[in-house]
Amino acid sequence: MEAKNIVVIGSLNFDIIVKQQRLPDKGETFIADELIQGPGGKGANQAAQCAKLGLPTIMVGKVGDDRFGNALVGSLSAVGVNTSYIKRLGSTGMGIVHVMPDGDYYSTIVKGANDLITLQDIDEINDVLVSSSFIVLQQEIPEQVIEYIISKYEHTDTIIVLNNAPARIVKESILKAVDILVVNETEASFMVGKPMDSVDTAINIGKELLPLTGGMVVITLGKEGSVVVTSSHCEFVPAENVQAVDATGAGDSFIGALIYALSEGLSINQCMRFATHVSAVTVTKEGGQHSFPTQRDLESVLFKN
Ligand code: RIB
Repeated sequence: MEAKNIVVIGSLNFDIIVKQQRLPDKGETFIADELIQGPGGKGANQAAQCAKLGLPTIMVGKVGDDRFGNALVGSLSAVGVNTSYIKRLGSTGMGIVHVMPDGDYYSTIVKGANDLITLQDIDEINDVLVSSSFIVLQQEIPEQVIEYIISKYEHTDTIIVLNNAPARIVKESILKAVDILVVNETEASFMVGKPMDSVDTAINIGKELLPLTGGMVVITLGKEGSVVVTSSHCEFVPAENVQAVDATGAGDSFIGALIYALSEGLSINQCMRFATHVSAVTVTKEGGQHSFPTQRDLESVLFKN
């Protein structure tokens, strides 16, 4: 039987990653150490990681008719993503990322063509969406498009994954139709209006979010690890102890790997451990998509026990 597609509908950004010792103060001009340019955008990153692990992946989105757009489409295509549903309009979205010596990052995006995706674009690809196994969404494209997709495919067999990043207030009826919600600690705090200062708080926030969603909440906690909560499973999975150099896109790498493991039918614990391992490999290398591992880069293919 032919494997069903993963369809990622989201952003493609050209990333300018600046490595520096610290952020400048107000009015200060600070000298950075290094500049890395490359493909990014949460949507494109998640699609790239799915494809690098071997999943049949389709990217739906918009880039500008410019050299940045060419670069983004070219790099996704090079890792095996089907790019035939990426349209060209306006100017390409950009990501400006400041990376600190410990790998932590501060990211700003310019929406560009990502903001030009319409409901009509979604209607045009209905056949692709109804026959997909996962629809993967983030919040770097218009809110009404996200809401439209989730409402339209809520009652199909397709699993809807929402990475609520950057965090938006999601309407109750929309969030309830999301099968898997993935957020980092900042986004989870924003969604419940409470600070998150420990793993225990993360678990409690996960439990608070769970009944608002369709059934699974994952909260990533950076260097700490991640938390997963479902109706039958609640677990903290610690991060692997690696020398991080650049965490740009690590959350996206985690999500791509999680989807891969879920589509392989692994247990929740195995899925979380696999995603944790993949994102640990990602942070040990500089840059975004280029740092994401393929199956061949991974020491063990899957955690089967
Ligand atoms: O998650 C990392 C991504 O966020 C970067 O690639 C940047 O483009 C922003 O979208």
